[in-house]
Amino acid sequence: MLLRPPVALLLGLSLSSFVSAQPSPEVQKRISAAIQAAANQPNPDYTAFVNPFIGTDNYGDVCPGASIPFGMVKFSTDLTGYAPAGYVADPTQKIRGISPLHDSGTGSYLDASPGYFAQTLDNNIKIEATATRRAGLERFTFPVGSKPYFVLDLSNDLPATFAGGTLDIDPEQGRITIGGRWGSSFGPERYNYQAFACYDLLNGGNQKLSEHGVWTGDDYGLDAKGLGQTHLNLTLNLIGGVYQSGALFSYDVDPLSVPQITLRVGVSFRSAEQACANAESEVGDASFERIWERAKAEWQEKLGRVEIDVTNTPANVTEMLYSSLYRASLTPNNATGETQGVFENTTSFYFDSLYCSWDTFRTFYPLLALHSPVEFAQIVDNYIDGWRKNGWMPECRANNLPGWTQGGSSADIIVAHFAVNYHNEADRLGINLDELYSAMLADGDLNPPEWNIEGRQVNVYK
Ligand SMILES: *[C@@H]1O[C@H](CO)[C@@H](O)[C@H](O)[C@H]1NC(C)=O
Ligand SMILES: *[C@@H]1O[C@H](CO)[C@@H](O)[C@H](O)[C@H]1NC(C)=O
Ligand SMILES: *[C@@H]1O[C@H](CO)[C@@H](O)[C@H](O)[C@H]1NC(C)=O
Ligand SMILES: *[C@@H]1O[C@H](CO)[C@@H](O)[C@H](O)[C@H]1NC(C)=O
Repeated sequence: MLLRPPVALLLGLSLSSFVSAQPSPEVQKRISAAIQAAANQPNPDYTAFVNPFIGTDNYGDVCPGASIPFGMVKFSTDLTGYAPAGYVADPTQKIRGISPLHDSGTGSYLDASPGYFAQTLDNNIKIEATATRRAGLERFTFPVGSKPYFVLDLSNDLPATFAGGTLDIDPEQGRITIGGRWGSSFGPERYNYQAFACYDLLNGGNQKLSEHGVWTGDDYGLDAKGLGQTHLNLTLNLIGGVYQSGALFSYDVDPLSVPQITLRVGVSFRSAEQACANAESEVGDASFERIWERAKAEWQEKLGRVEIDVTNTPANVTEMLYSSLYRASLTPNNATGETQGVFENTTSFYFDSLYCSWDTFRTFYPLLALHSPVEFAQIVDNYIDGWRKNGWMPECRANNLPGWTQGGSSADIIVAHFAVNYHNEADRLGINLDELYSAMLADGDLNPPEWNIEGRQVNVYK
C-alpha cells in the first residue's frame, strides 16, 4: 500500500452549533441484540448486523454515511480537523455540518445503519440523512420553541481547494442551486473537478421560508452578509486562506411545535439542472421513511447474498462479516449518467472513485466476483470503456479526474480476473472478451504520454 488518497467532499450544510463525535454505545447494543434475535430465523434482517463505524477509528478513513450500494451520494457529517472520509471517532473534533459527497476507503449521540445516518448535537438539534444513488433527504429536528437557521457552504471543501463557483437562491420555488470547481484529491494538482447540488427547501410546500441571503467569510476576519441577495459568483481566491461563502436561510415555524425541517438534496457531476432532475426522479415527493426503507431493501438484497449459520457463529464474527460485506459494496461510486468530457455520451456504465485499482485488485474484486457478477461486469465494462475513450484503462479515477498510477495500472488484473471467472458468461454479462484483451494489451504494451496517470512506463523495459 502506498499513499492513501484523501477525499472528495463538499457542499456542506453547516449548523451553528458544535459537538464532538463518538458513536453511541446504543449502536453496538442494538447490533448485538439483532444478532441474538436472528438465531434460528429463516430470513434475518442482515442490515441490522452492520456496524458502519467499524474502520472509522485509527485513520481507517471510511465513511459511515447514508448510502445505497455503490451510491454516488454518501451523507455524513464533516468535522473541523483531519477526517477525509467526513467522520472520525476523535472526541477532540467538532462537527461543522453535513454534506452529501464523501469517499470511503481512503480516511453526543451518533447512529448509523445501512442507508441511514443520524447525529444529535449537544444543543439537541438532531440531524438525519438517507440516500438514493444521486440524491437524498436530510432531516433536522430542533428543540421546541427554536427558530431553524441554516448555513449552506458553497466554497469550503475542507482541504481548501475551491477554484470558483456559483450559487442561486430562488425563494419562491424554495430552491438553492450550487456548483463549482475543486482540486483533485489524489492526482496532479492542476486538475479541477466540477460538482453541483440542488437543495429543495420547502418539503413539498409543508415548510415556510423566513429570511434568505448570502454570506462570505474568511480566516482573516471577513464576515459579510447580504439579506435578500440571491446570487453568488466567486472566482478562485488568489490571496489564500480558507474562502467560505454560501447561503443563509431560516424558517417560520409554530413556536409551540417541535420544528422539523426536511431538505431534499440532489447532486450531479454535470450541471445544477441535472442535480435538481436527479432529486426529482430519485426522491420525488417520497417521505424520509420511504427513501430509508428503499435504501435498506437494496442493502438487504445485497447482504443476503451471503448466508451463514447465525446460530453457531460467534456474534462478533457475524457483525464483522456483514459490516465488511457492507463496506465492500460502497465504492466504486456508480456515476452512470453523470459523465463528461470524452465519456459524455457513453453507452457504457460509468464508475467514479476507482480508488485506486492497486488497492482493490487483490481482494475486493475477487470478492465481488463471487457474490455480484452483474455488478462486477458493469465495473469491468467501465474499465474497458476507459481504454475505448482514452486509449488506456483508468487506474485511480476519482471525481472524474485521473489519479496517480504509482508503478503501473492494475486494471489489467481486474479485467483478467473477470475473464478467467466468467469466460463462458461474458457475452451474457455484456462484456466482449476481444475488447477486454485489447484493453489489456494496450495497458501492458503501449507507453502512454502520461504514464503517471494511466497505463505504465513500458519503454524502460521493452
Ligand atoms: C461568473 O463570472 C464570470 C467572470 O466574471 C463570468 O464569466 C461568468 O459568466 C459568471 N457566471 C455566472 C453563472 O454568473
Ligand atoms: C471475537 O471474539 C473472540 C473472543 O474475544 C476473539 O478471540 C476474536 O478475535 C473475535 N473476532 C472478531 C472477528 O472480532
Ligand atoms: C455528445 O453528444 C452531443 C450532442 O450530439 C455533442 O454535442 C457532443 O460533442 C458529444 N460529446 C462527445 C464527447 O462526443
Ligand atoms: C448503476 O446505475 C445504473 C443506472 O441507474 C444501473 O443500471 C446499474 O445497475 C447500477 N449499477 C450498480 C453496480 O450500482
